[in-house]
Order: sequence, then structure tokens, then C-alpha cells
Amino acid sequence: MSSSFDLNRASWDDRAAAHAASPDYAVERFITDPTFLSEVVRFDVPLLGDIRGLRGVHLQCHIGTDTISLARLGASMTGVDFSSASLAQARRLSEQAHTPVEFVESNVYDALDVLERERYDLVFTGIGALCWLPDIARWAGVVAALLRPGGRLFIREGHPMLWALDEARTDDLVVGYPYFEQPEPLVDDDGGTYVATDVEFTQNLSHSWNHGLGETVTALLDNGMEITRLVEHDSVPWDALPGQMEKDERGEWRLGDRPWRLAHSYTLNATKHS
Ligand SMILES: C[S@@+](CC[C@H](N)C(=O)[O-])C[C@H]1O[C@@H](n2cnc3c(N)ncnc32)[C@H](O)[C@@H]1O
Repeated sequence: MSSSFDLNRASWDDRAAAHAASPDYAVERFITDPTFLSEVVRFDVPLLGDIRGLRGVHLQCHIGTDTISLARLGASMTGVDFSSASLAQARRLSEQAHTPVEFVESNVYDALDVLERERYDLVFTGIGALCWLPDIARWAGVVAALLRPGGRLFIREGHPMLWALDEARTDDLVVGYPYFEQPEPLVDDDGGTYVATDVEFTQNLSHSWNHGLGETVTALLDNGMEITRLVEHDSVPWDALPGQMEKDERGEWRLGDRPWRLAHSYTLNATKHS
């Protein structure tokens, strides 16, 4: 397993600077406008509720744009990621954007070695996060252990049905990959990324895993979490099926043809039993 994590970390390290330089992550806007929030967090606000004063942890925070947005909404945020290059970008942005956030380098599965157990009111994650984790049950155990009793989890994530589609097919929706979690990873060798950039990458092998919606819900229930909301959306924040999707004014992507055929993403909220 460590080789999967090593491959993935190298791929994220290779992409971090290009992501921070891409207009799609809008890093400059965070620096010039102290009220600016990422499109992802702007979408979340109606379901996120008031997070002022909460102690929050953002798992798999990447270059910190969503973490900084949550801090701007009033939470005291810690971002966790295993990519040191991503965290270097995140720390620089936090400083330049005058929005303090603590960033901690760790594999999600080792988060309890570096963060205090039952300390957090809010765990936030998603948008291309869970697919890098081989074992959703083990992940749910980490989430539950980080939360204080009564604390809550907020995920918005790509829908597992979307992850199961073959993105190379531009003419139809074709189920090409597993919906359910499999022991073996999906191996990808992709020189590109999901934002606009001219940078050529060298670390292109990655390993990923899908997790069915029921598997994620069950993993949380088994770890003492109560599901308080599960909403499926007809849009997702990245161009997940190139050639078949259109972008709206909020930066969300959906199928150009009958988007109601597919759940594109979901929001799941859960509370740890007191
Ligand atoms: C697509 S980003 C998701 C973050 C956020 N939604 C964004 O777009 O900025 C995926 C992040 O997960 C991190 N990651 C992948 N596997 C991880 C693991 N096992 N432990 C910690 N971080 C991990 C990567 O380093 C990367 O920064």
C-alpha cells in the first residue's frame, strides 16, 4: 500500500505549483479580495450553516483554497495533506491572503498521530479526496476519532456513479470502472490535470479507489456517526466527463444532454453521537 501512497504523493507534489498558478484555483483573488471564497465553498455555504467559532479540520486540503475559505467564514481551521509541495503553496497563500490557517503534513490514515483526538467541531473534506483512499471504513474511523461528541462531518464529493463512468468516452455514458470499493486500485497514467495549465508533468502514475454511496454511509454509521443529510446534485465542480459537460455561471459542470440522468456529486453530513 505504501507504494500507492508514494506514487500518489509524487503526482500531487508535481502538480501543486501548477495548480496554484492556474486561473482555475483563483489564488490571486484570495490575495486581492479579503472576502473572496472558493467556488467549492460558495456552493457549500447554504448547507454548511454557520461555522463561526468552530474548530475545524480539512482533510486532504491540497493548496488550501477551501481551507482558507472556511477560515474566512469564521472557523478556526487546520488543513491536513500528505503532499509537502501542496502545503508549501497553502502556507504561502494563507500568509499572503492574511487568513491564518494551520497546515499539517500527514497521511489521512495517520492523522491521529499529529492531531488531537476528539478535538474538532467540524471535519470537512471532499471534491476529489475520497478516491485516493483504499479503505473507506478505516477513513470513517479517523473522522469519528477526530470529532468531539456532537461534532459534525461535512463532505461534498464526486458521486461514485460518476467515478464509475469511462471519461474517455465522449459520445455516451459508459460504466467502465468499479462502483464498489475494490482491494486493487485503478491504475492511471495521465500526464494532465483537472485545471487549465501549460505545465508538463513528469509524475503521472496514480492509484485510486471508488467507494459506493452505501459503503460510505455504512462506514460512518459503524463508527458512531448519525447521518443528518444526504443530497445528490446534478453538478460537480470540475469537468469530469470532457466533451459531455457544460459549465454554469457558478463554476459547476453538468452533462449537456439530460443532466438528470446522473447524480454528479453529493453532500453528506453526519454528526458524532454524544
Ligand atoms: C483534489 S485534492 C482535494 C482537495 C480539494 N478538494 C481541492 O481541490 O483543492 C486531493 C488532495 O488529496 C491529497 N491526498 C491524497 N491522498 C492522501 C492521503 N492518503 N493522505 C493525505 N492526503 C492525501 C493530495 O495530496 C491532494 O492534495
